[in-house]
Amino acid sequence: MADLYNNKVPFELKTKSMDESIQGNAMTLKRPENVPSNGKKYYIESYGCAMNFADSEVVASILGAEGFDSTRDYNEADIVFVNTCSIRDKAEQTVRNRLLHFRAVKKRNPGALIGVLGCMAERLKDKLMEEEKLVDLVIGPDAYRSLPSLIQEAESGQKAINVLLSRDETYADINPVRLASNGINAFVSITRGCDNMCSFCVVPHTRGRERSRHPESILAEVKDLYSRGYKEVTLLGQNVDSYRWSDDEKIRGKKLIELRDTDQVFNFANLLEAVAQVGKDLRVRFSTSHPKDMHDNVLHVIAKYPNICNSIHLPVQHGNSEMLAKMNRTYDREWYLERIAAIRRIIPDCCISSDIIAGFCGETEEQHQETLSLMREVKFHMNYMYHYSERPGTLAAKRYEDDIPLNIKKRRLQEIIDLQRTHSLEWNKKQIGKTLEVLVEKTSKKSDEDLCGRDHRFNMVVFPKMDAKPGDYVKVKITDCSSSVLLGEIVA
Ligand code: SAH
Ligand code: SF4
Ligand code: F3S
Repeated sequence: MADLYNNKVPFELKTKSMDESIQGNAMTLKRPENVPSNGKKYYIESYGCAMNFADSEVVASILGAEGFDSTRDYNEADIVFVNTCSIRDKAEQTVRNRLLHFRAVKKRNPGALIGVLGCMAERLKDKLMEEEKLVDLVIGPDAYRSLPSLIQEAESGQKAINVLLSRDETYADINPVRLASNGINAFVSITRGCDNMCSFCVVPHTRGRERSRHPESILAEVKDLYSRGYKEVTLLGQNVDSYRWSDDEKIRGKKLIELRDTDQVFNFANLLEAVAQVGKDLRVRFSTSHPKDMHDNVLHVIAKYPNICNSIHLPVQHGNSEMLAKMNRTYDREWYLERIAAIRRIIPDCCISSDIIAGFCGETEEQHQETLSLMREVKFHMNYMYHYSERPGTLAAKRYEDDIPLNIKKRRLQEIIDLQRTHSLEWNKKQIGKTLEVLVEKTSKKSDEDLCGRDHRFNMVVFPKMDAKPGDYVKVKITDCSSSVLLGEIVA
């Protein structure tokens, strides 16, 4: 997972097979010592967002408890799992190509099984299994507990499918096996699913209703990571601000806004504060915040605890209020800018990043210009930028025509990317001369002589290694930069 982090997760689509992303620490790949091996090996490859990668760790934990061993070489695997993403058409195409590749592997090893996990499972179960005969098992994100029995079914030649979505599954009792861990950063899921129904988005359809995980199980996982030497946790949810827990089931199901007495509910601000108190030297991050739900109480908690990173990923999606309404984001441009002002007021040195979609249905040139003008107003530190990709079954697919030609979508996206580059560079140049505290994560990709890591905001810093090693906190004086990275030297 640490590698994911270094590749700018929160939500950038990244492909990582275990063989690519393993950073040593192969210990974490072993099944528990008290569980005898069943002689079978599995290989798992994950696509999509950090939540999907976190789910692969839950899957590894479930399989490990059944005696399966993992392998980084799919050629020797008895089962090959692909944990899939549906967020854009391109993501699905990537996975389909991968499945075709694995079908060739199966020709060499006819006994091997191929399993599709995650977000493509529900949508494409029939196609993948029946029409294309690409896979032997299809398992949706809420059905991982049924994996051992489904594997048995598939081994006996039956179709093995479980794509049922659940209203309560949070895998709260499962301690995830840290698959590609560097032992420094870990992701911890706090909610599953999403109730927001943004009109462009497939996630509510693939992952089902939103549910929060019991705070005690979250805290137990964080404390366990801390006691094992982890230095940073990122709390994950599609909309972390809507986290809420009450022991009373009736209250738990209600929206916070409907409750007069919020003391009855343990909300995201309460959770963040409890996690921050686990250890003063444990850095805490979270993603993703939703502009409609990110209230000042969360900002005050961030400001109060130095170990909660001053970095907020607050996807705006668009700069024009009409487009935002069509996207069903339930806030407008003014509301978003007011939230930005609140961040700047309460946490003055906060890093703010976002997601933006270009070329949504009916977008006019003027509306596109409003996205650019909002970017100029906010000056995001970083942005994940996409052109709109229609997803079957979503509100937008049903209601609106995907009428912006691809070349125009691409041109608008490029304008957004170019502008973001100038803002990132501007931000980075302002860091030159400062001394930042950096948590060292790994050796730099470009040189074995350099290390890289992030400061408490989200700046990626590269510097000559001297005596430092991954897991150390070091002070780095920034001497130079590009639009994506800061360069510096360790100071005493
Ligand atoms: N829960 C997060 C986002 C999860 S999906 C949030 O609400 O912000 C990650 C990003 O993918 C979204 O923020 C959006 O920018 C992008 N995305 C989602 N559906 C898309 C689609 N159909 N076409 C293009 N981009 C999309
Ligand atoms: Fe998708 Fe919107 Fe939910 Fe994010 S908040 S996962 S964009 S529906
Ligand atoms: Fe994540 Fe992709 Fe599913 S972004 S929630 S893996 S559709």
